[in-house]
Parts: sequence; C-alpha cells; structure tokens
Amino acid sequence: MRRPIVVGNWKMNMLISSSRKWVEELLNISDCAGTIDIVVAPPFTSISVVRQYLEGSKVLLAGQNLASIAEGAQTGEISANMLKDAGCDYVILGHSERRQYQRESDGLINKKIFLACQSGLNVILCVGESMGERNSDKTNDVIERQLTACLEGLSEDQLNSLSIAYEPIWAIGTGNTANPNQVQDVHGFIRSWCEKSLGKSLSRVTRILYGGSVNSQSSPALMAQPDVDGLLVGGASLRSKSFYDIIKSSF
Ligand code: PGA
Repeated sequence: MRRPIVVGNWKMNMLISSSRKWVEELLNISDCAGTIDIVVAPPFTSISVVRQYLEGSKVLLAGQNLASIAEGAQTGEISANMLKDAGCDYVILGHSERRQYQRESDGLINKKIFLACQSGLNVILCVGESMGERNSDKTNDVIERQLTACLEGLSEDQLNSLSIAYEPIWAIGTGNTANPNQVQDVHGFIRSWCEKSLGKSLSRVTRILYGGSVNSQSSPALMAQPDVDGLLVGGASLRSKSFYDIIKSSF
C-alpha cells in the first residue's frame, strides 16, 4: 500500500561534472524503473543539469531546502516555486544539519512545509533525537514535539503527500547505524502518533523513512521492519554504485 522510497541526499557535495558521471553510471547499471520511488537531492547548482541527465529515467529530484517566504527580496534564498520550476518533485525539510547549523526552528520548518505544499512539492520532514536525548529516555518526547510543531495547521490534503524521515542525530555520518529494533520502535511510535493526530487513513499512507549511516549491509534488515517504508541516504549515495547496491539489496 505504501510505495517504498530511497532518497539520496548529496548535501554540499558533487560538482556538475561529478553529477553527470554519477547519473551516467547509475543509469548504466539500471534504468531504476520499478516498484519503488528513487529520488536524488543534488545541491541547487546542479538540479537542472541533473534533470537533463536523468531525462527518460524514472529517477525523481528533490531540493535539500527552500526559503520560508514565497518570493521577493531574500538574497541568496531559493523558493518552493523555483524548486518546482527546476524539476523537483520533493523537498527535504527540517534536516538536523539545518536545525543545528542554520538554527532552523520547528516554527520556521512549519512555514516552509506550507510553501512546499502550495507549490505541489512532496515534503520529506526529518525528525530525530540527539544521543543525550536518547540516553535520558527523551526520544519519543523529542519526536512528538517536532512532529506536532512542524505539522501544525496543515490540512489533510496537504498532509497527503507527506513523508517523515526518522534520522537520529547520533547516527548521521557517524557509521553508527541505529539497529533495526531501535528503528522499528521509533517508526512504530511515529505511526501511532500519525494515527492519533492525523487520523487512521493518513497514518496508513504516510511513508516513514530511516536515515543515518545506511549502507547496503544495513539496508535489508532496516527495510524488513514493518514500519520502515524507505531510506534517506547521505554518504553512501555519493557513489552511484553504493547507492544502487542499497536500492538493490533493499527490495
Ligand atoms: P548519512 O546521512 O547517510 O551520511 O548518515 C544521512 C542524512 O543526513 O540524510
């Protein structure tokens, strides 16, 4: 019922030349057409060229962020409409690196989600706890607080295209993948939060992704969990072969 999804988040990596090579290599191994959604989030500067290289394939594009207002005098910002115009179907919002380094609050992320929905972008909302919060048994509280504040005021229609990525901060870029039981516990909690707060039908369709040091060794056991519908992959998505290995080993 929920279509699986694998998202590659390139973060601030890859020049145009390496993007081209990545796409060529990926499409050489596979046309990526199948029963799952494959999404890649390049930096803004290469979105439109990656779009051209991907022409004819089923791979979809995501932005890594967008501005918190619709348009106007915001030097250096990229709007939701611009992302859509450049060929994106998705946007990643609330990533912990933006929460930490750009001081993004739940309230700001909420504004961005509204704008993304208005522009017809599918939102991948990231949530997750720090190691300190996990050690003091606050994981579910943190997740609940983030979900409640980031999704406040959104209509059922807007929430229809939402995906939630559980990304424990301690697992991102550290090589410490959360174990499948830990992941299922939190995903189960997110699913029941969705049921309680958004209703039964939305909770059934909302995809919940896991992210944090995913590789092709860890992906099968993660994807085997009942509430893991997809993966958000950072470091291991930078090489087309390891990204493809994750896709192949997961489904
Ligand atoms: P990682 O990043 O796979 O390099 O841990 C995941 C993410 O931050 O989305």
